[in-house]
Amino acid sequence: MTEASVRTAASTIRQLAPSDAEAFREVHLEGLKAHPAAFAMAYEEECDRPLPEFRARLEQLAVFGGFVDGTLAGIATLQRQPLQKRRHVAMVWGMYVRDAFRGSGLASAILRAVMARAEAEVDQLELYVAVGNDRASRFYKAMGFEPYGVMRRSLRVDGVDHDAEMMVRMFR
Ligand SMILES: CC(C)(COP(=O)(O)OP(=O)(O)OC[C@H]1O[C@@H](n2cnc3c(N)ncnc32)[C@H](O)[C@@H]1OP(=O)(O)O)[C@@H](O)C(=O)NCCC(=O)NCCS
Repeated sequence: MTEASVRTAASTIRQLAPSDAEAFREVHLEGLKAHPAAFAMAYEEECDRPLPEFRARLEQLAVFGGFVDGTLAGIATLQRQPLQKRRHVAMVWGMYVRDAFRGSGLASAILRAVMARAEAEVDQLELYVAVGNDRASRFYKAMGFEPYGVMRRSLRVDGVDHDAEMMVRMFR
């Protein structure tokens, strides 16, 4: 079994291809709409983008998806930092698991796939999680991420400011 397609009893985790754009778009927009304070991207700035833009995104970024019975149920994006002095770092963002699949282990399976790819390419993986998003924060800590500070007023959503906990997982 390869890292590219990790199959558990219930799910298949793999990097999404441009041909997954439609399913990706649906799950991504669902997450942004349901959890505006959890993501830096706004539903309003994403919802009218044409499908080719999502195809292009899947060509440029490593988005991992978890499929249950062939249906996309969760996503996370791994983005390596492009600047020369930041190339030892990658970020994970846009992590979202559809409501019906939470608590099922799908989220950890997706994040494990992201971490395996990151560990092969960089020395550390970083993320931001909104202060108050306790479930996500517990999840990341359980997956080995350590908080290292708070970004004040990281996001402003409908006039309300949200701080973000900054977390890192060091590989070496
Ligand atoms: C954040 C999210 C992806 C986590 O997925 P999930 O299925 O809800 O997470 P899980 O149920 O696997 O993890 C939550 C619980 O399991 C624990 N857990 C998860 N993986 C674990 C592991 N490998 N070992 C031990 N404990 C683990 C967590 O600590 C947590 O404990 P709790 O029972 O006290 O809540 C999901 O809740 C989600 O999509 N939320 C909305 C969007 C969002 O907030 N995204 C994050 C943006 S930063």
